[in-house]
Amino acid sequence: MSEHAAGGRTPLDRLPEWAALRKHREEGDLQLRGLFQSDPYRGENFRLSVGDLLVDYSKHLVTEETLALLRDLAAATGVAELRDAMFRGAKINITEDRAVLHTALRAPRDAVVEVDGENVVPAVHAVLDKMAGFADRVRSGEWTGHTGKRIKTVVNIGIGGSDLGPAMAYEALRSYSDRGIAVRFVSNVDGADLHEAVRDLDAAETLFIVASKTFTTIETITNATSARNWLLTELRADKEAVAKHFVALSTNAPGVADFGIDVANMFEFWDWVGGRYSYDSAIGLSLMIAIGPDAFRQMLDGFHLVDEHFRTAPAEENVPLLLGLLGVWYGAFFDAQAHAVLPYSHYLSKFTAYLQQLDMESNGKSVDRDGNPVRWQTGPVVWGTPGTNGQHAYYQLLHQGTKMIPADFIGFAKPVADLQPGLVAQHDLLMANFFAQTQALAFGKTPEEVAAEGVPAHLVAHKTFKGNHPTTTILATELTPSVLGQLIALYEHKVFVQGAVWNIDSFDQWGVELGKVLAKRIEPVLLTGEDTGNHLDSSTAALVASYRALLGR
Ligand code: F6P
Repeated sequence: MSEHAAGGRTPLDRLPEWAALRKHREEGDLQLRGLFQSDPYRGENFRLSVGDLLVDYSKHLVTEETLALLRDLAAATGVAELRDAMFRGAKINITEDRAVLHTALRAPRDAVVEVDGENVVPAVHAVLDKMAGFADRVRSGEWTGHTGKRIKTVVNIGIGGSDLGPAMAYEALRSYSDRGIAVRFVSNVDGADLHEAVRDLDAAETLFIVASKTFTTIETITNATSARNWLLTELRADKEAVAKHFVALSTNAPGVADFGIDVANMFEFWDWVGGRYSYDSAIGLSLMIAIGPDAFRQMLDGFHLVDEHFRTAPAEENVPLLLGLLGVWYGAFFDAQAHAVLPYSHYLSKFTAYLQQLDMESNGKSVDRDGNPVRWQTGPVVWGTPGTNGQHAYYQLLHQGTKMIPADFIGFAKPVADLQPGLVAQHDLLMANFFAQTQALAFGKTPEEVAAEGVPAHLVAHKTFKGNHPTTTILATELTPSVLGQLIALYEHKVFVQGAVWNIDSFDQWGVELGKVLAKRIEPVLLTGEDTGNHLDSSTAALVASYRALLGR
């Protein structure tokens, strides 16, 4: 492959800006203890804010010079140009020849965003208005089921981007939700998921939302078909009942009609919305029913605020740019393989799972935009669960293991407004842990400090913390709908920045296709035992034979 590939872009690791960073890394002594000692104001200087989010990046292994060199790399790799192309609707998803316009989903009513010469904003708001009308009718009890009963449970059936976003946000904004309507999420094709979701429900009071961009995803169509059968059996009704209990969220109107859902009850979105960027589209209907249209719009405003920041803030103040570049720095020059996201809010229990798809499906790539193998690290393994639970499980490895795992700590000054008064005092304890962890990770404890505590010599090494583990702290006043939107947009754009620097297509997901094809081939073999196409290798064939034997087939 030529050095200057089809796109004419010099490979990342041949850029002088890359070489400058490498040299800087090799020559610099980036120890957090030393960095803090040499700048007593580092904690105040190395922080930025966007909207309601305060972002402290002082506990990173960087100097002003590092950051300047990283910004040079962003300039050399055309991050700003690609960003502008995304916002104006250019088809930057090159392998699918699609625009990437999740930012249009939260654009104000009077904005103009064109795809193929057509302003898409009026259509976005028409769908939002239709969703709001429907959500209000369900919330008020005006929309009833087939037997006239009011809806008490909404079951969202979808997977990947058609599940993780609304499920995460419903959990995050539970305290804003109408507690009289429960929302459940079914995604897994394992029948246990649907079984547990409906086993205690009254079908007459249940609304199913079938969420699928393509309306061809096997898990979703299978679960939706089973849910329809369950409903009709429970209600002892014919298919007329479906109209009052099933709505669809999709880009595929014919697919929805084929399934038997009236397209009048379909909420549309468009192929320029990627699945993992879609929960602020019609895919958010279950969330909107839970929290109401006003709170949903506040969330969209939060997204938009960060979109505008990303689009217009100078590089030195641009938070998504900064966070993206820090990840590039650790992947390239510290060989970091993973990134932990550790929210200190129980309501964010599904936040990291959501980010896993956003980040890993976007940037889990190993060829560049021209199809050449990349010679640099791309997306990290993203993982994490809410503090303080993780502290009593895997933080040991963060503190004393051999891996370099940069981490984001996300916390809030106030607990949610409706927390029982008797529990409010616990919030300081939660946040004391939040602050303590990044301090411990950054500064550790030297053998001298351990010995000075009277620890016997043979235990000193075991009780030493080498520190110097980089973290970002994101602090906001409280977890509101707007703040959630701000946080998600921040991560969306961080992922964008990294994809742009790495020169990969962050908007396709071909890596999920092979498994789907093979599963389709294997399923009939499980039933018949006949591998007619001779598709199975000896391991898989033997496993399938054992499976069949266990079932007595
Ligand atoms: O297979 C991966 C994927 O395409 C995701 O990108 C997407 O979010 C998910 O499947 C669900 O797709 P759909 O919304 O079309 O059912």
